[in-house]
This record gives sequence, structure tokens and C-alpha cells, in this order.
Amino acid sequence: MKADDLFDLTGRVALVTGASRGIGAAIAMTLARYGARVLLSSRRASGCDGVAEAIRAAGGEAHVQACHAGDLAQIEALHAWVGERFGRLDVLVNNAGTNPMYGSVLEADPAGFAKTVDVNFRGYWFMCQHAARRMQGQGGGSIINIASVAALHPMDGIGVYGATKAAAVNLTQAFARECGPAQVRVNAILPGLINTRFAAALQSEPAQRSRVIEATPLRRIGEPEDIAGAALYFASDASRHTTGATLRIDGGMYA
Ligand SMILES: NC(=O)c1ccc[n+]([C@@H]2O[C@H](COP(=O)([O-])OP(=O)(O)OC[C@H]3O[C@@H](n4cnc5c(N)ncnc54)[C@H](OP(=O)(O)O)[C@@H]3O)[C@@H](O)[C@H]2O)c1
Repeated sequence: MKADDLFDLTGRVALVTGASRGIGAAIAMTLARYGARVLLSSRRASGCDGVAEAIRAAGGEAHVQACHAGDLAQIEALHAWVGERFGRLDVLVNNAGTNPMYGSVLEADPAGFAKTVDVNFRGYWFMCQHAARRMQGQGGGSIINIASVAALHPMDGIGVYGATKAAAVNLTQAFARECGPAQVRVNAILPGLINTRFAAALQSEPAQRSRVIEATPLRRIGEPEDIAGAALYFASDASRHTTGATLRIDGGMYA
């Protein structure tokens, strides 16, 4: 293998969930730039159209299919579409996540709890299961789960969300162990605070922003593109002997 081929994804089929904006959009655009045929998904297909158009305008290949990651029937339909249209899946990026609740662990309501678990844990699990089954049958593949530093350090106000992200790390390791012999690699990325709509409430006030920047050794808040390079690493042969790993990308905040 030539050194400059390490990150080459030419012809590989890569499915990215939550690809309409933020971290998912940045990952999809980067994988496409390195040659992947990218499949973009989020709850509404129209939400992903702009990202797909940007990929095509840059000379890449992009396809869009809607899927609510908290709905098992829609997950099954998404993977059936992947099989029928493309016949293989080389990379899955489980990125669609939700946090409908903010408040004390003592006040978590069952409906918000169920929604968080359905998308962030059950959704990740069954996306992994469908992808890993297909990848096993074709000789291998790479699954990347976007977790959070909240998986390592519970944060006040988002306890349920953090617990589902800890579950995403644990399921990453479980799938990595069982699917490794079939050359299916499964790794997790743990972002710190990243400048997206999802995290807008955590950085809207200037004082709050300053506190975060001061607590971050690299003295900045992350951008979605800061996560894309790690996804490219895990998607490509550059990480071919890496599975069950977790990579924290937080500007050093939790070093
Ligand atoms: N931003 C941060 O500071 C941060 C830190 C740590 C971890 N993360 C994780 O990074 C991932 C991406 O977050 P982000 O910050 O990029 O958020 P974002 O900009 O709000 O994007 C979220 C994406 O997920 C999609 N989505 C939301 N709920 C969905 C569902 N039920 N089914 C399918 N798609 C759904 C959204 O599209 P639609 O609305 O079109 O469905 C959108 O594409 C999440 O897993 C999040 O937990 C983020």
C-alpha cells in the first residue's frame, strides 16, 4: 500500500446518519472528498438535499434517504434500500443523536427518557446490527459511532443523554469484539463542545462561551470539521488495525 493511499475511499459506500447539518454534514463532505459514494440520511430527505448538492458540485457522489433513527422499521427500510441500490456498505457513521431534555436526573420524564434511549442507544445498536451483518457477508467494513465526552464524565442537566452516550461506547466495544474476526471494525469518536445547532444553548451567552474556552487547553470551541478528520481515519485503511477504540476530540478539555 502506498502512503498516499492510506485515506483513499474511492468507490466505498458510506452511510452517514444525521447528515443534514453539523457534524454529520462535515463528515459526509470529507468522506466524499476522499472518494466515497456517500449516502446521507436524516428525518427529512429535504434536509439533506443541500449537503448532497454541495458534494455533487465538488465532483463527489451523494444520495439521500430519510430515516428516523428512533424508529426500528425505518432503520430496517434504510438498510434494505442500501442493499437494493448499492449491494454493499463499507462505512457506517452513526451520528444522528438527540437530547430533548435538560434538567436534573430527579426530574427526567419518561417520554423524554424513551426518546433519548430510542435514538441514541437503540437506534445506534440496530444501525450497527444491520451494517455489521452486511459487512460480515462482504468481507469487512468500518462502523463509526459518534458518542460524546459526556460518556466519560456525566454532566449536570444532561444525565440521560450522557448515559446513552456511555452505552454507545460500550456497544462499540461489544460489536468490535464480536465482529472483529469478520474484519468489521467498530470505533467511537467522543466530541467535546462543537459549534452546531445541537449545542447552541451551551454556548449562546458570551460569559458561558468564555468559561468553556478558558477550560479548553487549545483555547477554542470545536467546529464540525474538527471531527471529520477522525471519521476519515476510522473509515479508511489508515486505521485498519484499530477496532473498539474511543477517540476524544475536545481540545484537551478532559486530558
Ligand atoms: N455539538 C456538540 O457539542 C456535540 C458534542 C458531543 C457529541 N455530539 C453528538 O454529535 C452528533 C451530531 O450532533 P450535531 O452537534 O452535529 O447536531 P446537529 O447539528 O443538531 O445535527 C443533528 C443531526 O441529526 C439529525 N437528527 C436528529 N434527530 C434525528 C432522528 N431522530 N433521526 C434521524 N436523524 C436525526 C438532524 O437532522 P434532521 O433534523 O433533519 O432529522 C441533523 O442532521 C450527535 O450524536 C450528538 O450527540 C455533539
